[in-house]
Formats: sequence, C-alpha cells, structure tokens
Amino acid sequence: MLAVAVFVSGRGSNLRVILDSPALKNLIQVKAVVGDKLYCPAFDIAKNFSIPVYNVGKKEGFISFDDLEIILKDFKVDLIVLAGFLKLIPANFVRAFHNKMINIHPALLPSYGGPGMYGSNIHRAVFESSAQVSGASVHFVDETYDTGRIIAQKCVDISGVQSPEEIAERVLSIEHQLLPYVIEKIALGKVFVENNRIRVET
Ligand code: GAR
Repeated sequence: MLAVAVFVSGRGSNLRVILDSPALKNLIQVKAVVGDKLYCPAFDIAKNFSIPVYNVGKKEGFISFDDLEIILKDFKVDLIVLAGFLKLIPANFVRAFHNKMINIHPALLPSYGGPGMYGSNIHRAVFESSAQVSGASVHFVDETYDTGRIIAQKCVDISGVQSPEEIAERVLSIEHQLLPYVIEKIALGKVFVENNRIRVET
C-alpha cells in the first residue's frame, strides 16, 4: 500500500475522486489531508473518510511545514498529492519529499503556469487567448510554481466554448481521470525519472 497525503485548499473534488477510485482502493491509503485554511469543504470529505486533517502555515494554531514533515514521515508517507493546494511549498519541504510530491494543474504546462495562475485565473487566460485546446498536467513539485518535470497530460477540445467556466468544467472532468491514473502508475512503480525526463510505463 502506498501511503499518501493529499494537500487541499478548496472544494476537494480531486480528493473525492482519489478516495472513491476503485482502481486505487487496494493500492493506496490516504493517511492525512493537509490544508492551508482553517476550513475548506475538502476537510468535510476527509472527515467522512475518518482521515486526520492538519492545518499548515503561519496562522495561529496552525502547524509549521517543519512539524508537518515530521508528522508525514511518522506516517511513512510515500507520496504527497497537491490537489488544488494553492500555497507555495517551502524549499526545505520540497527537498525532503524530492520526487515524492506531485501537483495537478488545470492547464497544459508549461503554458498558463506560474504565480497567480490558479483556478479561474487560468481558465480566463486560456479563454482570452482563444486557445482551442486546454487540458490538465500532473508534474513533480520543485521549488517554484508549476515548473517541475511533467509526468502526464491530457488535453480537451475547447473550440466551441462560450466562457471560462465552460473550460473549467471540461478540464475538471479530465483532471478527475488524469490524477487517479498517475497515482496508480506511481503505486505500481511504473513512473521513472531517467536523465531528467519522466517515463511512464504503460
Ligand atoms: C483544480 O482544478 C486544480 O487543478 C486546481 O485547483 C482546483 C481544485 O479543485 N489547482 C490549481 O489551480 C493549482 N495551480 P478541487 O478542490 O475540486 O480538487
């Protein structure tokens, strides 16, 4: 069983898909859910599955990333999944989980990434560019926003859309396929880092 921690900041639809995935049921165990807020709807999903929730950051009563590292290492966490987690992860923490932390991004990286490119901002930028295709990317996390090596991507036709919201909807349904796919590949030992490139065995 791959021990997993999922980091969230919002509604938690990707968390729910991970927890509901039949393919992941016997492969992974979600040991902890971590958020940078006092409350977000994703915490309710964690609580329904009896998964402990931790609040990380500098706010009063929150734990530091250093303490979180100790907790996740106690849980022997093999993989951290950033599923809509919007805070930049400190460099020390990234180094502690080198090639063990992945992020889902709702666009085709390396376009539409970087600081400020999250949630609806991304879909608005894609809409305004008049791009005909968008999609989702899952990548390893490095010290800067959205620049880590890409593990897998899936695209979606957006040629007929009328609004950024419509793009968001199409991309989200792609995310819900891509993220469990990548986690499954990692759990099965089918993701390799070779010569600074990623290879996924099919
Ligand atoms: C998802 O679309 C995810 O790709 C995005 O936040 C949303 C979270 O939705 N992440 C980013 O924008 C990170 N740059 P969810 O809480 O329903 O899973």
